[in-house]
Amino acid sequence: MSKIKIVITILYHAITILGIPDYCPKPISRAKEPSEHCAEASDPNELPKSGIEKWFTKEMFEDLFPHANLGYGPHACMPYSYEAFIIAARYFPEFGAESPSKVYEPEEHHRRDVSAFFAHAIQETGENNLDLYNNTDFTVDMASECFYRGGFYNWFERGPNSSFLHPSFPGYNPVDGKRCIEDGKYCKHETVLDMWYPCNETTELHANVTFYRGCYFGRGALQLSWNYNYGLFQQFLLSKKIEVDLLANPNLVITKMDPPLAMLASLWFYMTPQPPKPSMHSIVVGESRRIKAFKWFTKYFNVTAGPERTLSCKGMLEGFEAVQHMYSWHPDWGNMWRSRPCDCEPAPYGGES
Ligand SMILES: *[C@@H]1O[C@H](CO)[C@@H](O)[C@H](O)[C@H]1NC(C)=O
Ligand SMILES: *[C@@H]1O[C@H](CO)[C@@H](O)[C@H](O)[C@H]1NC(C)=O
Ligand SMILES: *[C@@H]1O[C@H](CO)[C@@H](O)[C@H](O)[C@H]1NC(C)=O
Ligand SMILES: *[C@@H]1O[C@H](CO)[C@@H](O)[C@H](O)[C@H]1NC(C)=O
Ligand SMILES: *[C@@H]1O[C@H](CO)[C@@H](O)[C@H](O)[C@H]1NC(C)=O
Repeated sequence: MSKIKIVITILYHAITILGIPDYCPKPISRAKEPSEHCAEASDPNELPKSGIEKWFTKEMFEDLFPHANLGYGPHACMPYSYEAFIIAARYFPEFGAESPSKVYEPEEHHRRDVSAFFAHAIQETGENNLDLYNNTDFTVDMASECFYRGGFYNWFERGPNSSFLHPSFPGYNPVDGKRCIEDGKYCKHETVLDMWYPCNETTELHANVTFYRGCYFGRGALQLSWNYNYGLFQQFLLSKKIEVDLLANPNLVITKMDPPLAMLASLWFYMTPQPPKPSMHSIVVGESRRIKAFKWFTKYFNVTAGPERTLSCKGMLEGFEAVQHMYSWHPDWGNMWRSRPCDCEPAPYGGES
């Protein structure tokens, strides 16, 4: 053990968990600075405060996600902020505020729910700086203190500098996501889908390369993707009297702040389990990572993660060959924090094959 490691380890144990450890690398922003009079996250419906606001504070959000928005940090004009998170939560008042069983105290339920959402977000769009675990001055626990503070980093799939985007508009600015190359279309055509979820077919040529406007690649913390999911989210918004044509303008998921759609889409996805779910591969690889993240967040919030059995579907995965083609078992992350007897559900594989 090096001297530096000993000193840092002592410091680590001397300070409490709350507060970003000094040894964590400072975020390096790749995001364009928002303008002075930028539009902050707001709610056209002016929904009342939800229960989560009684306990989850702006200080916590900023302590947890200093690397949000491509390293810029949380900012009310950017896709990810406490303000956006709280407004999104008002559309799901039960999020982080309900207590569905007596297995845990109400407070524990609330914190486990939010931990599960954050664990999802870490996995999907966290900075995922694995170099932290290669730093020989850090123990694994110390590296985790920094690693799990990398959430809400990416806006766009493959971003920043997403290869889906125009090289002159590579994704450091929310508006950059409005056009993409063919690979970023994620638009499924079928008779019924074409009727309900018609893709924007507008194209433009730049230096002889065709770019498209109908780009339904992953956007937001939980990576809303594919035309039909944009369409379903749009229907949800309409049910809340928010009229927005996401099929014509999918990038509004990142740019619209009234209400802040990047957060709202993520919470909607978390609260409304549906296809497409990740492939078998990412379930198996991703599941254990997400469980680790869940454990870290529950520890941060001083609540128990619960029995291992409810956190994974390992037993169920063994029967995978017997399961209908294109289906797999995965933990129902919108519900596993409740710790009910069966937290696994079949997941149709809706992604690209
Ligand atoms: C961490 O170190 C190992 C071995 O030294 C190396 O193979 C790996 O690429 C490193 N990972 C990262 C993320 O730097
Ligand atoms: C962005 O990505 C392209 C390739 O897709 C690469 O050539 C370029 O150097 C990257 N720019 C930055 C700033 O990372
Ligand atoms: C674009 O392609 C056309 C035909 O393939 C060619 O004639 C033209 O020179 C190209 N333009 C540029 C800017 O590369
Ligand atoms: C397609 O996108 C363009 C540019 O965002 C927009 O002006 C147009 O209205 C959209 N077209 C359709 C059919 O939705
Ligand atoms: C967790 O407990 C520690 C030590 O009692 C305390 O300092 C910290 O504020 C608690 N964290 C939360 C999120 O309640």
